[in-house]
Amino acid sequence: MTLLLDRRLVVVTGKGGVGRTTVAGALALVAARAGKRVIVAEVSQQERLSRPFRREGVGYSETELAENLYAISIDPEHALEEYLGKQVPGLLSGALLHNRIFEYFVAAAPGVRELTTIGKAWELSQHSRRYGSGDHYDLVILDAPASGQGLAMLHAPKTFAEIARVGPIRRRADGIDEFLRDPKRTGVVSVALPQEMPVNETIEFRERLRDEMAIETDLVVVNQLLPERFTGEDAERIEAVNGAHGSEEVAAALRAALSEHRRAKSQRAQLRRLRREVDDVITLPFLWDPEMTLEGLNRLADDLEKKL
Ligand SMILES: Nc1ncnc2c1ncn2[C@@H]1O[C@H](COP(=O)(O)OP(=O)(O)O)[C@@H](O)[C@H]1O
Ligand SMILES: [Mg+2]
Repeated sequence: MTLLLDRRLVVVTGKGGVGRTTVAGALALVAARAGKRVIVAEVSQQERLSRPFRREGVGYSETELAENLYAISIDPEHALEEYLGKQVPGLLSGALLHNRIFEYFVAAAPGVRELTTIGKAWELSQHSRRYGSGDHYDLVILDAPASGQGLAMLHAPKTFAEIARVGPIRRRADGIDEFLRDPKRTGVVSVALPQEMPVNETIEFRERLRDEMAIETDLVVVNQLLPERFTGEDAERIEAVNGAHGSEEVAAALRAALSEHRRAKSQRAQLRRLRREVDDVITLPFLWDPEMTLEGLNRLADDLEKKL
């Protein structure tokens, strides 16, 4: 089997807020450290990865964040404009026409946003490129939208290929679909939190991806796992003195310790539940920094490097 980071495209998905962008960034750091030229493609138009690198927000242009590490924010309008501009030179002069053409496409074919977005990610992963900077990347990490939308995006080329039936759009859509389904070239990582709903959603996403697309999830990353600081026995002893302690500060600290212990315990239970259903599960620790820093991302990358 081709190792995850030796593929050309890695799609990172999961429910909003679980840490998709963070995991995409940490994976990219691991690959960049290994000497690969990597680009993280973000699609939600809330580009966040540039922040820990202390860079201005990244738009629809390939921007270097660190050595070997690039980022782009893909929006479907730009992606469609770029594609049509290459297909039909001269068509798109005039901003008004751009918008009308985009609206026309979106109305004519639902799913065109998803298709152009995944199409751009695919384009970035091609070794001979005629678009954007034209530069070659060894690996594209797609910071994809939340699970349901992520699935729609992976499905879009197949849907389009069926609609188009013949012609250049058919060929392109078929090519992208084939690429996405090829486990040597495309990998799928699902990010979850060790909580009931995100675990359910991860299991469901995995099943749908398999049933609807015949694609296997390569890896589930359970993010923000709390450390287990106390044994059950410790916790019982803390509980026994809780509140009955003379000093209010100490009592508050004990209550906090107990509540964190309960959260860590419930996280372990959810993690076990996930592991019963899914083989390839790895965890990343909860970082206590108030904001994601480059140092924090590097710590997560250190951890991933060992676990991948
Ligand atoms: N392992 C972690 N430890 C602590 N905070 C984290 C961790 N992973 C992500 N975060 C924080 O959680 C928030 C959401 O993460 P982000 O990667 O932006 O999620 P998503 O892209 O899924 O919306 C951010 O504030 C991020 O800094
Ligand atoms: Mg994000």
